[in-house]
Amino acid sequence: MNIRVINEDVTRVKTPALIINLFQGVKSPGGATGAVDTALNGAISRLIDEGEMTGKAGELTLIHTFDTIGADRVLVAGLGKKEDFSADTVRKTMGNACRFLRDRNVTAACAIAHGAGIGGLDPRSAAQAIAEGSLLGLYRFSQYLAGNGDGKALEDLAIVEANPEKTASLKEGIRVGRITAEAAMLARDMANEPANVLTPTRMSEIARQIADSDGLEVDVLDRGRMEQLGMGALLGVAQGSHQPPQLIVLKYVGNPDNPSDNLGIIGKGITFDTGGISLKSAGGMERMKGDMSGAASVIGAMQALARLRPKVNVTALAPATENMPGGEAQRPGDIVRTMNGKTVEVINTDAEGRLVLADAMAYAKEIGVSRMVDVATLTGAIIVSLGKTCSGIMGNNQGLIDHVVRAGEETGERVWQLPMFDEYKDTLRSSVADMRNVGVSRDAGSITAAKFLAEFSGGLPWAHLDIAGTANSTADKGYAVKGATGVPVRTLVSLALAGDG
Ligand code: BES
Ligand code: MN
Ligand code: ZN
Repeated sequence: MNIRVINEDVTRVKTPALIINLFQGVKSPGGATGAVDTALNGAISRLIDEGEMTGKAGELTLIHTFDTIGADRVLVAGLGKKEDFSADTVRKTMGNACRFLRDRNVTAACAIAHGAGIGGLDPRSAAQAIAEGSLLGLYRFSQYLAGNGDGKALEDLAIVEANPEKTASLKEGIRVGRITAEAAMLARDMANEPANVLTPTRMSEIARQIADSDGLEVDVLDRGRMEQLGMGALLGVAQGSHQPPQLIVLKYVGNPDNPSDNLGIIGKGITFDTGGISLKSAGGMERMKGDMSGAASVIGAMQALARLRPKVNVTALAPATENMPGGEAQRPGDIVRTMNGKTVEVINTDAEGRLVLADAMAYAKEIGVSRMVDVATLTGAIIVSLGKTCSGIMGNNQGLIDHVVRAGEETGERVWQLPMFDEYKDTLRSSVADMRNVGVSRDAGSITAAKFLAEFSGGLPWAHLDIAGTANSTADKGYAVKGATGVPVRTLVSLALAGDG
């Protein structure tokens, strides 16, 4: 979809559909909505008076104008209560509104700069949120459907703004919003691809393509190099599969004068998780094609950084492999040696994410990252704790955790912290190795997983995002659509842009 800015009066702009808004509880609308109301002889106030339109969040009211104003249709989007308003309200509103119009075969639309008036957003942030919300909300994964999904696309969106002094900021917001949305959509594409297509090898090809076209350094470690480096945990998971494992490394150097500041972002890249010999049950196993969502998110974030070119250094690592129960697969009870020398008793082969991350984190330290954030669909337990509303965060450095939480608030990809008390580590004790890969009981499963990972932070500031609940959506809602969400691509970008402050 093309997104642009038009300098024009909202009541005069010629468009098939004009998206305006209404806060909850407003009886006589002001601003752009008020101007449209007046031009429509009070149609909007009348709908409010009659109780048909309330402005509650998610409400969409379509009014046909029959040539009374420039726009053929006016779509009034409820923003909810003014005190709850944020950039995320704009994203959700635009996601819902754009899908609503597309469902009615509307191919072009205009939107006011939602939130830039009484919402209190600056024009740049408003435009960024509009671009993100509409692009992400219109996203479809349709390449395997006959007719490629059918239906018309919403092809053109314009932000209408009468004041030409705001045009430059609006355009800049659109530029940045497109980059972050496209990065999240790249991650969605990868996670939505079935595992027969998106193998570890295919993932490494995609990473190479991005490095090539957007200007990043790339290195992909094959099995031989993993063996040389002693990555026994990653190799142990990979040995049950015919697909060769790949450790993908992408590097963005935007601040060459300060190489010691280097954020590492590490994503779990299990392209399919059967559980291995500790085989998962059949029900819903197809969802495990998305067990590489963490890896997809760090690759997506690197694409955005390569295009935004901020003055920071970021290295992404994605240990990619299948977790299969082949004849060569590792067995419960096997002991593997990780790259940092620690041995692990593999009690449950389905706790494979922490094993591949262990070696990737150890390697991240080896290649000089100064702090790290890992992202993983790590535990079903995080869905029990937090549902699909927010990701879980744990770590060893409150400052870094706070930065990630704040970045998540900005992007609408919410994050909630869980505790890391020493006692949670106790159940990882093994009598034959340095640790076991699962706790003795299922208690606090997300935290014990994080406690396992903590052993591989190498003393660096580290935060861990468990996205098992948030990586996928069960429905079209706001700017999420059914399937992969692309969480937390935009949060990683925002974290990197904030630098080491
Ligand atoms: N990939 C799964 C976690 C998962 C579950 C992601 C549901 C998305 C939705 C992970 O590898 C796994 O199997 N975890 C086990 C750990 C257990 C064996 C300690 C789990 O959560 O059951
Ligand atoms: Mn598993
Ligand atoms: Zn898994």
